[in-house]
Amino acid sequence: MVNKIVVSLGIALITGMSAQAQSPDIRAVFSDAEKQTRVMLAEIDKAKEGKPDLVAPRTIEQGKLKLVKSGDWTSGFFPGVLWFLYDYTRNTEWKKEAERYTADIEKEQWNGGTHDMGFKVYCSVGNGFRLTGSNHYKEVLIQSAKTLSRRFNKTAGVIRSWDHNKQKWDYPVIIDNMLNLELLFAASKLTGDRSFYNIAVSHANTTMKNHFRKDFGTWHVVDYDSTQAGKINKKTTHQGYADESTWSRGEAWAIYGYTMCYRETKDPKYLRQAENVAGFILKHPNLPEDLIPYWDFNAPQIPHEPRDVSAAAVMASALLELSTYSKSGKLYRATAEKMLTNLTKSYRAPIGSDFGFLLQHSTGSKPSDSEVDVPLSYADYYYLEALLRLRKLTGSKKLY
Ligand code: GLY
Repeated sequence: MVNKIVVSLGIALITGMSAQAQSPDIRAVFSDAEKQTRVMLAEIDKAKEGKPDLVAPRTIEQGKLKLVKSGDWTSGFFPGVLWFLYDYTRNTEWKKEAERYTADIEKEQWNGGTHDMGFKVYCSVGNGFRLTGSNHYKEVLIQSAKTLSRRFNKTAGVIRSWDHNKQKWDYPVIIDNMLNLELLFAASKLTGDRSFYNIAVSHANTTMKNHFRKDFGTWHVVDYDSTQAGKINKKTTHQGYADESTWSRGEAWAIYGYTMCYRETKDPKYLRQAENVAGFILKHPNLPEDLIPYWDFNAPQIPHEPRDVSAAAVMASALLELSTYSKSGKLYRATAEKMLTNLTKSYRAPIGSDFGFLLQHSTGSKPSDSEVDVPLSYADYYYLEALLRLRKLTGSKKLY
């Protein structure tokens, strides 16, 4: 049934899309991204003066560039952007900058206080390892996976996300946590130690059971009872509009996470899950015509709600990978290309503006009135990742 919907929607979308060329000019975008990132490097130097603990840009706040410490969940994205520039250009200037910014994140390998290890370390050190094969990076990845694994609880079958707000939750797990599993799969391959793999699979299976509604929309936060297997205290939201709404970036993490889990395990249930999440996104009546989602699929004032460009960038990157595994691949690829074309045409920061961020109009956390309609470093990261994926696919190369 779901497959039928996806296929017929596919025909409709592709027919609608064929009238206009839907491919971004990747060379031009990377050339502009290099110029913008030079602006960013100069802005970071100014903002950092006298504050050596601040290591990476996150957003613009009250008209100023906001830098974060390495412990912030977003610290790995700017080093990742630098690695992507090196990946595309092979210019050693970018490699040097990437190494410099990655070095500041490495100490996170010891930080067991959050689940965000994958975001911080895999997006920075992981890309460094992919592009250089450095033994040092390999060791950092393995240690990071060991530290992250300590947050796994066998009874609950999942990795704990947050330690904050202990009065609100017993054992909170957020859908975002799916992205941290990529680091565990990598560590398993690097060491031959299956325990990393087993934790990742347990987390993915438990999340699949508890984080999804019948229509494959997601709850943001599931609070487990860590002392009784299978027991859940409650399902809520933190960054979405309501407990029962679907927060757009959460849905983006879901499609990205299950596509990646299928790559790493070849278990068809993960492929089906990713396709079903794609079905939710693509057939949703509140997905705007340009395919750049509002910050929550159920936000009350749609169409007068802020967009979340970061969700679109994550979705585009995921859909491109999913297109290589799925029978609905043509639809997913056409959709991702349309998203990327629209991000490129209508959501980019003019060169020299926005402290050097690449994209505007993301939303971090609307309920806390934080980071609404601003650039965010992770939007830039997944935008470039998606463009690199598209370049590979255009050249008929395998992504993985
Ligand atoms: N992982 C936090 C967020 O997506 O905002």
